Amino acid sequence: MRIADFKIEEWMNKYEAGAKYDLTTTCISPLSINELPYSDEIFNVKLGYGDITGSSRLKSAINSLYEKEHNITVTHGAIGANQLVFLSLLEKGDEVVSIVPTYQQHYSIPEAIGCSVKLYFLKEENNWLPDLEELDKVITSKTKLLCLNNPNNPTGSVIPDWMLEKIAEIAGQKNVWILSDEVYRGLNLIGKPYSKSIADIYPKGISVGSMSKTYSLPGLRVGWVAGRGDLINEINHQRQYNTISISALDDYFSTVALENRDFIAQRNFKIMNEGIGILKEWLDKTPRVRCILPKGGTTVLLNYGLNIPSREFCKNLQAKTGVALLPGETMEMEGYVRIGFCAENLKTALEILGNYLIR
Ligand SMILES: Cc1ncc(COP(=O)(O)O)c(C=O)c1O
Repeated sequence: MRIADFKIEEWMNKYEAGAKYDLTTTCISPLSINELPYSDEIFNVKLGYGDITGSSRLKSAINSLYEKEHNITVTHGAIGANQLVFLSLLEKGDEVVSIVPTYQQHYSIPEAIGCSVKLYFLKEENNWLPDLEELDKVITSKTKLLCLNNPNNPTGSVIPDWMLEKIAEIAGQKNVWILSDEVYRGLNLIGKPYSKSIADIYPKGISVGSMSKTYSLPGLRVGWVAGRGDLINEINHQRQYNTISISALDDYFSTVALENRDFIAQRNFKIMNEGIGILKEWLDKTPRVRCILPKGGTTVLLNYGLNIPSREFCKNLQAKTGVALLPGETMEMEGYVRIGFCAENLKTALEILGNYLIR
């Protein structure tokens, strides 16, 4: 299967390691094993294949993140979860609508399968939220799947619950599946930390989650799909060729992290709120730049106010200052850069960026 270059991952592989100040990151300071509330039971974890689609203890910890009880299958990160959804649901010729900017999997895998993919662009003037009338026109009765990412990477927008219900209504009228990549769910900065999940409000809603962002454990490589029984069965059918099972250790550590998630949330909201404060202060004093403050997640899109392509801007900035940003072009958003506001040394890095911009 031929597939487009994964632009973000390629950029990060090339530039992230060499950065002195890495603002490309989407993670909130990964936790170490020492910080997790594991017990001696870890030494009795059998290192076999274990429960093939995830242990029942892990699945019940995952289910506690939802309002309803769901069928769940555990995957190799959200990246594995998204891929399995596409492989299980889509065939050549299907119509897919993907709300962008988003994680590139959400349009490049359907394109590689041979689907007809329509991109619906979020607009800054709409606070990076979809316009429901426009979306209603883009989704047709031919559409099989709508893909969205909520909270949104890179814009930091969060679809309000009432709007998600409306999107589900539009999709329901046309019998469309919705895949909602919810890896940043639980990180809302305004109102309740957890938005509603699409799986709780829509029968054809598919929720993808993971340990990587909200729970600061990207190194565990654990994600999941929550959804309707027949879909999860179909995913498990594909999954046999792809995963067998996740590591028994990853299953255990994910379980204890989710069972004790309050302490992770406390720590993470502290980091996020500090980051927002620093970002806000910097935006107030920096001329020419434009940015809508995030409502959730770990990233924002910054319009840097210069007539230079974003790749060139980021390359030059990093070469001259060591500050790494992600070019908007890698997310189909030319003229912008992505800033991870939970990054270490955010204050210093933004000071350097500010000085670079006013040279
Ligand atoms: C929206 C989105 N989906 C999926 C992923 C992949 O996450 P994971 O580490 O769980 O595979 C990322 C990682 O950056 C992401 O931002």
